[in-house]
Amino acid sequence: MNKQEFFRQILRGKANSPRDNATAFAPSNIALAKYWGKRDTELNLPCNSSISISLGSLGTKTTLRASNQDRVVLNGEEIPLDKPFAAKIINFLDYFRANLWQGAMEVITENNIPTAAGLASSASGFAALTLAANDFWNLDLDTKTLSAIARIGSGSAARSFWQGFVKWQRGKNPDGLDSYAEPLALAENSPSRNLRLALVKIDEKAKKNPSRDAMIHSAKTSPYFSAWIATAEIELHKIEAAITSGNIQELLQLAESNALAMHAVMLASRPSLLYLQAESIVAIKKVWDLREHGAEIFFTIDAGPNLKLLFEENADTRAIIENNFPSAIFVNPFA
Ligand code: PMV
Repeated sequence: MNKQEFFRQILRGKANSPRDNATAFAPSNIALAKYWGKRDTELNLPCNSSISISLGSLGTKTTLRASNQDRVVLNGEEIPLDKPFAAKIINFLDYFRANLWQGAMEVITENNIPTAAGLASSASGFAALTLAANDFWNLDLDTKTLSAIARIGSGSAARSFWQGFVKWQRGKNPDGLDSYAEPLALAENSPSRNLRLALVKIDEKAKKNPSRDAMIHSAKTSPYFSAWIATAEIELHKIEAAITSGNIQELLQLAESNALAMHAVMLASRPSLLYLQAESIVAIKKVWDLREHGAEIFFTIDAGPNLKLLFEENADTRAIIENNFPSAIFVNPFA
């Protein structure tokens, strides 16, 4: 199945009465059990399931408005339509327009993720765009379907529809309709709610190897890719069990190992994919050194050089992070 057919199947028979405008917000998310590898590149279907934590109020707000010409505005600045950022958004909206009202649109999008956090915003961006599209065209789709749609824009966007811990099921069907995310239920007093993040920016330049292409390259050339896939579901179950049972120390350890295993797969690709910079390694060693001295601080890293420190809320741990990573941005996902 291709993208056009995927959208046609979902949008078939939908009423065709757009509003003047629609606005939606979606939080950013960080994977604790990473998604790395696609079983279908056209529909962005993953080889493995993944689990993330959403970042509360940090994310993307997007407004769609009927207009007399297509425009994309990011944080107050108009982006030319031939730039990849705008082209991807318009291309995504075209799949809706191919099946619904086809007029020109303005896309006004704002990220409140501080640039100092060194976080990509494609996950929250495509989730907010999908939510706004659902409202704009009065589609009344359920969140599972919206998650599967956003996945077409960016895999990790499938997980950006809820706060808290979210699991994206890889699914099995060729049409990808069973590959969507859902929130993980937590008891009100679960210790897992004490998870905090501290974002340590190493470099915010756009990455040379976008994850979409890098995943394909890894799957084709890394001798460790098959081992990654063979262990990914087992790791995911351990991570899910640590979250639901409230074993936060176990969760932090597993999340760090999972990220490093993903980087090992990347490194073993031919030619190698190295996202870490010298400063990333310095920061990793600093975390390990602090741990040797008793601080319970862990990290995860995506396809980039920046660290996301993970810790259990505690004034001492927070002070240690503030002293050692003075520019870190603290995030309480449960605030
Ligand atoms: O959704 P994408 O194509 O940006 O890929 C995300 C890949 C990682 O961030 C490395 C892992 C993940 O699960 O978010």
